[in-house]
Amino acid sequence: MKILGIETSCDETAVAVVEDGQKILFHVIASQAEEHARYGGVFPEMASRQHIDRILPLVEQAIEEVGDVDLIAVANGPGLMGSLLMGTTAAQTLAYSWNLPLVGVNHVDAHLYAAMMGEKAQLLFPALGVVVSGGHTFLAKITSVGEYSLIGTTVDDAVGEAFDKVATLMGLPYPGGPHIEKLAKTGDPNLYPFKPGVVKGRPFDFSYSGLKTNVLYTIKGKNGLKSSPDSIPESEKKHIAAGFQHAALSDVVEKSFKAAQTFSCKAIYLGGGVTNSQALKDLFHAKNFSIPLFWPPANLSLDNAAMIAGLAFHLYQQGTSDSPLNIKVFPKIDLKSALC
Ligand code: KG4
Ligand code: ZN
Repeated sequence: MKILGIETSCDETAVAVVEDGQKILFHVIASQAEEHARYGGVFPEMASRQHIDRILPLVEQAIEEVGDVDLIAVANGPGLMGSLLMGTTAAQTLAYSWNLPLVGVNHVDAHLYAAMMGEKAQLLFPALGVVVSGGHTFLAKITSVGEYSLIGTTVDDAVGEAFDKVATLMGLPYPGGPHIEKLAKTGDPNLYPFKPGVVKGRPFDFSYSGLKTNVLYTIKGKNGLKSSPDSIPESEKKHIAAGFQHAALSDVVEKSFKAAQTFSCKAIYLGGGVTNSQALKDLFHAKNFSIPLFWPPANLSLDNAAMIAGLAFHLYQQGTSDSPLNIKVFPKIDLKSALC
């Protein structure tokens, strides 16, 4: 079964065709990061407009290369409302006019499925799902493909978002994660021993706003503002980047370790853009987990449409199919109802 996937939840316009949930036949991610860089983050209205220009030419290219498809899958949430509407409306229109079934996919679930698409991936349940992206940070117990319940999430910023904001404070370009990682390589993480956030009574939840404020005050001085001049020499920034990175990422590793034990997990699947971080991989591997860790293949870690088409294959087999005219977009996940 060939599935055409469309992903426009944020600032990437992505189109893919995947056969039977695994075999990627077409895979393009048209990133808008350069256009948004000058605003220091994603400019939602511009993202929607760019999706309009890019979706149909990419779909046309996919069909030219791969031929007809059997089903259309679209990321209909969570993400930016305008961006989601662009991809979803395109998918609805194509499904209606080509008379094909349509499946709406939660793009955060799909980030976890990406780790199941690797060549060496095995399916072992119950498993721990760890999503670390620009929009989400959460731990989930996965009981089968596409079925999970939430263990913990962030009460404020997502981990990738904290990297992006700290990078902006340091005058680094957007998206900031890879720039912080590069700078941190030459720094000493022990010179600025930042502490990760603690959420009282909720051991698996995350909080990054306190950590971010500590970095702000370290760079701009006590009670400094984002616009204040730096109160430290430029040469200190690499140590601050290393200290911040260590605090933010070890928090993910420690909480994942505890959650995997508490929920008797047989494997860990990781997803989201922050899995690009070699520092995160090193910290996970240093922890010597007794269960296997599955990372998304490099081309499937950022937002992409192959993971959407891949997961849709399983959802369709399980009976999910949406009417092209009824499918709705959802900008936020209903986290409370998903709690374990
Ligand atoms: O999954 P993704 O494409 O976006 C969302 O769905 O939100 O992830 C993008 C995020 C950005 O915040 C980016 O800074 C972060 O992933 N990121 C990293 C690294 N590479 C990407 N964060 C830390 N270290 C990295 N090497
Ligand atoms: Zn994402």
